[in-house]
Amino acid sequence: MEFDKVVEARQSVRRYVPCEISEEELAEMVRAAGMAPSADNSQNWHFVGINKAEILGDIAEVVEAKWQGVFDKLAEVDEERSLKMQKFAKHFFYFFKDASAIILAYANEIEQPVGDILEKVGEDPEVINDHWLRRNNRMQNMGAALENLTLKAVDMGYGSCWLNALNYASPEIDAYLKEKHGFEVGDRFLAAVISIGKPAPNPKSPKKKPIEEIFTMIG
Ligand SMILES: Cc1cc2nc3c(=O)[nH]c(=O)nc-3n(C[C@H](O)[C@H](O)[C@H](O)COP(=O)(O)O)c2cc1C
Repeated sequence: MEFDKVVEARQSVRRYVPCEISEEELAEMVRAAGMAPSADNSQNWHFVGINKAEILGDIAEVVEAKWQGVFDKLAEVDEERSLKMQKFAKHFFYFFKDASAIILAYANEIEQPVGDILEKVGEDPEVINDHWLRRNNRMQNMGAALENLTLKAVDMGYGSCWLNALNYASPEIDAYLKEKHGFEVGDRFLAAVISIGKPAPNPKSPKKKPIEEIFTMIG
């Protein structure tokens, strides 16, 4: 597909029609993700593909149990908000179980020369880790890779949704993947999950800001 058309056609798809997505197709999307730029060419990503409905269901159960614990506690102090959040979560947190596949995107540890220099001059390790390595470069790299991945999904005729709602349940997801599927997360952390499938008709997206609002030209 032509580049502009792919970019414009990408939107978050949260309702899917049944279809199968093969391991090869998921690998093709991950290949596009791996072409992204990364600080110091660190390529600090690892992607886990899942296209079995049963495993998607298991993960959805893990995620729902974790969030339900939060909503139950919230109900003790704010019942109305808890009920609202439970409804919201159905549409925005758990829908991935009805997708054809998901890709879990893990961020690996990275070593960077500049981080090392900051350490040598006595900068606070928290500042180096959080602001420089982790929140900053490490996550920018992931964002670049994930955007490639979602655009490739569109190019291949699929819809996707980028989710961070699963991140809160990542310790439980990590434990499930290790126990049931032998996947060791190690020192990586879950940065995001992408659900993928054939879009149900008429997915809706919020409006984008006009160019005048997001662009300043100087000089
Ligand atoms: C970092 C990130 C996290 C997101 N997390 C979720 C999520 O947990 N659940 C969800 O339904 N959508 C999630 N989204 C999708 C956004 O809601 C969506 O991109 C935004 O509303 C714009 O709509 P569009 O993607 O259709 O253009 C996420 C997007 C990003 C980039």
